[in-house]
Amino acid sequence: MTIKLTLVAGARPNFIKLSPVINNIIKRQKNGEQLSYSIIHTGQHYDKNMSNVFFEEMGIPLPNYQLSVGSGTHSVQTGLMMIEIEKILMNEKPHYVIAIGDTNSTIAAALAAAKLKIPVAHIEAGLRSFDKHIPEEINRIVCDHLSSLLFPPTIVGYENLVKEGITEENIFNFGDVMYDAALVHKSKSNISELLQSLNLKSNQYILATIHRAENTDNLENLEYIIDFITEIAKKNPVLFPIHPRTKKIINENGRFKVILNNEAIKIIEPMSYITLLGAIQESSFVMTDSGGLQKESYFFSKKCLNIFHSTPWPELENSGWLTLCPPNPLSNMKKNLSDMLEKKTGEVSNLYGEGNAAELIVEKIISRIKNGI
Ligand code: UD1
Repeated sequence: MTIKLTLVAGARPNFIKLSPVINNIIKRQKNGEQLSYSIIHTGQHYDKNMSNVFFEEMGIPLPNYQLSVGSGTHSVQTGLMMIEIEKILMNEKPHYVIAIGDTNSTIAAALAAAKLKIPVAHIEAGLRSFDKHIPEEINRIVCDHLSSLLFPPTIVGYENLVKEGITEENIFNFGDVMYDAALVHKSKSNISELLQSLNLKSNQYILATIHRAENTDNLENLEYIIDFITEIAKKNPVLFPIHPRTKKIINENGRFKVILNNEAIKIIEPMSYITLLGAIQESSFVMTDSGGLQKESYFFSKKCLNIFHSTPWPELENSGWLTLCPPNPLSNMKKNLSDMLEKKTGEVSNLYGEGNAAELIVEKIISRIKNGI
């Protein structure tokens, strides 16, 4: 019997998590295992530097299906994806659908598969912010409760799933596929030319990213954040690769344009994965509202100021590597910053596994299929 897997990805963080999984599947094929796969790219992210560059750089094969769904409201985006994913799954009839992360592409894949009674494996299961106003939280909860195999990246994720009544026999904490990816690619990056061109020096700049709708679409919050970045830049230059949504909102609102003319704030296009890994390693610390970057900072022993009111990674907060810094008037954010700088950090340990999560996850999915469950 040839085992058939369908993997669905669509947004930047999905591609990073997809890479170690797909590479393991390909390795198994080369070793003669009877295994076939297809990749569906929903098209949630479509700019070259939000999508193609990740496939090229991380050696991910071109998707078998490109849905080109693009941007839209959550229901429009998710609904269009489901319509197209359903057609493909009805035709392909895979043994398992692999849904990754917590984006709208993840939930579209899980819903379409579950309604066709195709079992779903959810990679990065169990994360919770305990706030259903966050769109990713809705995606996480629904995807987890539709999945037949759940792969939380952390112990906390495992415990969250058990508390929600999910059968323990279906939950496996093998570590975090993002850690796998970081280990593979971390030494490939050399950003000295980029730093030189921006007049930045190693360990003397702050890496900043902001993209969450809660921070960008709420103009009061965005104003707080921009005031804060401007204040930081008085002492240390800030390297700010800008998400297309953030760029659009800044360009549309004259009051934010001040940030574009600040010499100490280096605004550049979104970075490729390997360049970003380099930029973290050379920074003095990271400020971000990206869930992935919070953890990548930790992988490289950099402190992280999380520009949000919650984190799906409480273990980072508990070990002192992460400090919450929600958008607020300047004095509050400055206080969060000084708290972060003073905090003692625990040793960087194996909170996210041993770097072999993808291998163990693929192994488990295959053994489930062979055992007919
Ligand atoms: C999505 C994920 C989020 C993840 C993030 C990484 C959901 C609910 N959110 O948020 O978890 O952290 O991706 O970036 O799935 N845009 C472009 N070009 C692109 C992609 C987006 O211009 O290639 C602009 C569009 O104006 C679009 C906006 O960015 O409306 C938001 O994109 P969208 O995919 O809806 O959400 P993200 O904020 O990227």
